[in-house]
Amino acid sequence: MRNQTIDNYVNTFVSYLGFQPANNDIKATIQAAQRFLADKSLERSTVQPTQAPVTRWLDQALESALAEPHDNDHLLSLCQATQAVLPCCPWTPGYDEKDVGSAFKQYFAYATLVGDGGIIPCSYFSTGITLIAPDFFYDWHHHPAIEIYLNLTPGSMWGINKAPLDEKKLGDIIIHPSQIAHAMHCEKAPILAPWLWAGDVNVPAKMC
Ligand SMILES: [Fe+2]
Repeated sequence: MRNQTIDNYVNTFVSYLGFQPANNDIKATIQAAQRFLADKSLERSTVQPTQAPVTRWLDQALESALAEPHDNDHLLSLCQATQAVLPCCPWTPGYDEKDVGSAFKQYFAYATLVGDGGIIPCSYFSTGITLIAPDFFYDWHHHPAIEIYLNLTPGSMWGINKAPLDEKKLGDIIIHPSQIAHAMHCEKAPILAPWLWAGDVNVPAKMC
């Protein structure tokens, strides 16, 4: 059975991408999302919502995203669709502690809504939300999936290919092509960032 709240979130995210300059990664991701939305064979898993230490920052991050001036109604709709899926979220720090250290789970978590380990398992598309505590550097990492992030934290810093990080504003879309190293940091606020994955979505991220 489909989850209407998750479907609406995916639909709203895809509509938002329609206003971005198209490239092959965006096109492939929209295609995977549309396949998911049309797929009647997918079943809800038994995965239940969970909290993580970093979710202490969730309310602040969301309130700040909703309170900021929005460039357009599409961005506000996507913030609201993200807010609507939060009660479903199974937050986890992911990563093996031996790879990232024992403190990592205090500062980082993500929730998979669709995909491996998520509310709705899916082998060709994944989506979820990442949350990072203030002043925590989410170190350089990579994965085979194409990744499209929506930045909901004004002033957060994002980098690819180990270049200096760039400041992003609310509503910016950040594209991480397959296997390209990327990292994030925000000194003063938690980073809240919904994402879409397409391509090889069953291989988890690894630190570089
Ligand atoms: Fe990533």
